[in-house]
Amino acid sequence: MSRIQMSNWGAQPPAMRQSSITAWLKKPPSVTPEPPSETRETRETRETLATSKFTLPPLPANVELVPLTDDLMPAFKRLLVLTLPIPYPPAFFAETMQKPFHGLTLLAVWQSTPPKTTANNANTATRDSGNSRRVVGAIRCRILPSSMLYISTISLLAPYRSHGIASHLLYNIVTKAAKEHGVTRVTAHVWEANEDGLEWYAKRGFEVVGKEDSYYSKLKPAGAVLVLKPIGVADLLAVKDAAGARDG
Ligand SMILES: CC(C)(COP(=O)(O)OP(=O)(O)OC[C@H]1O[C@@H](n2cnc3c(N)ncnc32)[C@H](O)[C@@H]1OP(=O)(O)O)[C@@H](O)C(=O)NCCC(=O)NCCS
Repeated sequence: MSRIQMSNWGAQPPAMRQSSITAWLKKPPSVTPEPPSETRETRETRETLATSKFTLPPLPANVELVPLTDDLMPAFKRLLVLTLPIPYPPAFFAETMQKPFHGLTLLAVWQSTPPKTTANNANTATRDSGNSRRVVGAIRCRILPSSMLYISTISLLAPYRSHGIASHLLYNIVTKAAKEHGVTRVTAHVWEANEDGLEWYAKRGFEVVGKEDSYYSKLKPAGAVLVLKPIGVADLLAVKDAAGARDG
């Protein structure tokens, strides 16, 4: 097959597409124009304002964010089949278990009941043996050159949306990637017809910086919108603040 199929709504196809993404992101200022009169200070202020528009709600008490493990792999694969329009090849999942992809992948597990805290130690969460656990969402990323975090996939099972879970997945990985890989920007391809996805990114401070007309060879329309956001202080504090709100 001459071209591996794109398999998501804003996700990245397998590794060989990276060069085209990188080339796109390295395009000259005509693609991502900088206002000539804008100073560094005003740009930083604008970016801070853009990020601070979004306040991360606390993660629901019955949701855990966990790394991908072999036993969770079938649930991860199933999640992508159910939430994204084109299947991913086995190589994608094999790669996900390797560095650095594994450290940039996070799953959301929904428990039927929240972890209990004991009277003796309020910080000790215990598991109820009858508690059912289900993988309901995941984010999977890669690192691109130019200190860029690229979101390969992010999705939630429909019944579990609008609880802030995807936002927590995003900000947890952004924070980790900033600390461990020094990324300063985060980017993603979004299928041009995925209005909800585009709106979700926009509300989190992502801006449209380009479009590739024939990105998704098996989807109609075939175009992908490239969204990008500089990582600001507010992004790095979002998870901490939300955790504080949950604890308090
Ligand atoms: C896009 C997607 C990942 C968002 O997942 P999600 O878990 O619903 O996202 P969040 O809960 O973080 O945010 C959704 C909305 O719920 C709101 N919300 C969060 N917690 C809430 C709560 N407790 N009560 C009510 N609303 C809440 C958020 O504020 C947000 O609204 P906003 O976008 O108007 O600000 C999900 O819709 C999805 O999987 N779509 C299909 C795949 C896809 O399109 N992926 C993205 C493009 S590649």
